[in-house]
Amino acid sequence: MSTPLEFARQTARQAGHLLRELYHRRHEVRFKSSDIDLVTEADLASEQLILEAIRSRFPEHAILTEEGGGGAQPTGGEASHLWLVDPLDGTVNYAHGFPFWGVSLALLEKGEISLGVIYDPLRDELFWAEQGKGAWGNNQPLHVSSASQLREALVATGFAYRRATIRDNNLAEFSALMPQVQGVRRAGAAVLDLAYIAAGRLDAYWEMHLHPWDWGAGVLLVQEAGGQVSDLDGRPWSLDTKGLLASNGPLHQSLRALLREARQR
Ligand code: IPD
Ligand code: CA
Ligand code: CA
Repeated sequence: MSTPLEFARQTARQAGHLLRELYHRRHEVRFKSSDIDLVTEADLASEQLILEAIRSRFPEHAILTEEGGGGAQPTGGEASHLWLVDPLDGTVNYAHGFPFWGVSLALLEKGEISLGVIYDPLRDELFWAEQGKGAWGNNQPLHVSSASQLREALVATGFAYRRATIRDNNLAEFSALMPQVQGVRRAGAAVLDLAYIAAGRLDAYWEMHLHPWDWGAGVLLVQEAGGQVSDLDGRPWSLDTKGLLASNGPLHQSLRALLREARQR
């Protein structure tokens, strides 16, 4: 029988292949919290595939997933084993044909992330990490970058769907960091942003209103690749974490200071 990691890798690939098949078709788009917060038939099909796979292989595990049953609460099973599922991260990109989106699965065991898998179907890149055993991208070990100066840092961020109506919409933080670093990317898929830090392609990433399915797998990838993760106040992540800062490590404190300063202005 496959290990949980093998299972997660296989399931992420299967969901990714389904998303790739549906990618070039016309999408059925529905709106969630606002007219920029989308869900497509592909999010739902991918989620169904993943939920069925987990329920049949690990019927005793709980699942926290974005689209199903309102998403906010875990369903089924014991809370000691909790899967965090983003069946399609980067839905807006997907719906526009912008090729930056992926699938993310993480398993929390007794409150610790034991494994994380992120799959980018268009590039056929599979990223995974197991607690204490390193991070991998298509069978190669992953390591964060060694950048230690903000001027050499390529960082990523994202903005909440509610950005038109909330005060802490990340624009002050964005304006504060942009002039200090080599570049800021808003590519639109948090799970790939995090995987790219683990792969040394990005040096850091922050965002203010995330959900556990956005960061579960990516946090473990970054940590196992040698990087650092905290909430925006420097505390370790918890299931309630909304604001996240992930980095290669050397840049963490200076980025956190800049973000804090921007928030206090
Ligand atoms: C979104 C993406 C985006 C981030 C948003 C997320 P979704 O996830 O990761 O990059 O800025 O905060 O909600 O809705 O495409 O799964
Ligand atoms: Ca999603
Ligand atoms: Ca997401």
